Amino acid sequence: MGAEIPRVTLNNGVAMPVLGLGVWQLRDGAEAETAVRWALDAGYRLFDTAKMYGNERSVGRAIRASGIPREDIFVTTKIWPSDFFNPEAAFERSLAKLDLGYIDLYLIHHPVDFIPGFRALRRRVWQLLEKKYESKRTRAIGISNYTIAQIRSVLAEGSIPPAVNQVRFNPFDYKKDLLAFCKTKNIAVESYSPLTRARRLNHPTIRKVAEAHARSSAQVLIRWALQHGTIVIPKSARRERIVENARVFDFELTPGEMVALDSLTHST
Ligand SMILES: NC(=O)c1ccc[n+]([C@@H]2O[C@H](COP(=O)([O-])OP(=O)(O)OC[C@H]3O[C@@H](n4cnc5c(N)ncnc54)[C@H](OP(=O)(O)O)[C@@H]3O)[C@@H](O)[C@H]2O)c1
Repeated sequence: MGAEIPRVTLNNGVAMPVLGLGVWQLRDGAEAETAVRWALDAGYRLFDTAKMYGNERSVGRAIRASGIPREDIFVTTKIWPSDFFNPEAAFERSLAKLDLGYIDLYLIHHPVDFIPGFRALRRRVWQLLEKKYESKRTRAIGISNYTIAQIRSVLAEGSIPPAVNQVRFNPFDYKKDLLAFCKTKNIAVESYSPLTRARRLNHPTIRKVAEAHARSSAQVLIRWALQHGTIVIPKSARRERIVENARVFDFELTPGEMVALDSLTHST
């Protein structure tokens, strides 16, 4: 059993673990179920799925089978744009597939500015999320891939502010302004693709920092995102990496290392 992962309090008072398992690309069935079980054993309590990932059923099944009290677990799922025309049915389908009684965080997966009439659609979808929150079917609601301008419109048009904005966030995509804006609005930023989808783990700056701490590049990237105050959801299908990715609460990057990593956004 891994050590307890700290939690952050969202703007509605709900506590959310600062580190979780992303499950995109884990195949529905044995692969997803096993990864979730390994993660639970390693101390993970946050799981990030989506209708689009096609593995909500497996995530729910592994959690139920664990016997861990439901209230200790935090499950995020998301509505995909193709369901924007019938968000009620999409929500109910996700809830039924997970079969965990309620959802912890329900996100609009993408703002889709390319769909005709998207503004009115997005407003309607957000209203549905507010309704589900008010009826306690989900403990928090939020957005994903939203820019500052798009967040402003949710805040202006809705009656409940988003608790979370989940965006790609790693040293090669350091969204400094978005992070600062979300902080002023008390919206938590959640980092997806924190490991650069494993594409940049051998970058010399990351390697150097990793060597200085006798840690892996993945652990350094997770620390970087945590030290920026974000919630981090690395994905892995391998037990040893799932364990490794959670061992990030016993070391700290220096301010100089943070600056060096921040500056990778402008490098190639
Ligand atoms: N909201 C959105 O639009 C959106 C978009 C993308 C992702 N997400 C969420 O964010 C989660 C994470 O992002 P991601 O899946 O794009 O990428 P990621 O977590 O940055 O990287 C995952 C990749 O890193 C590898 N990996 C994991 N741990 C490692 C380690 N310790 N050492 C070396 N390689 C390691 C994995 O391989 P193995 O599996 O083989 O270990 C996989 O190839 C997703 O699963 C999903 O939940 C959300």
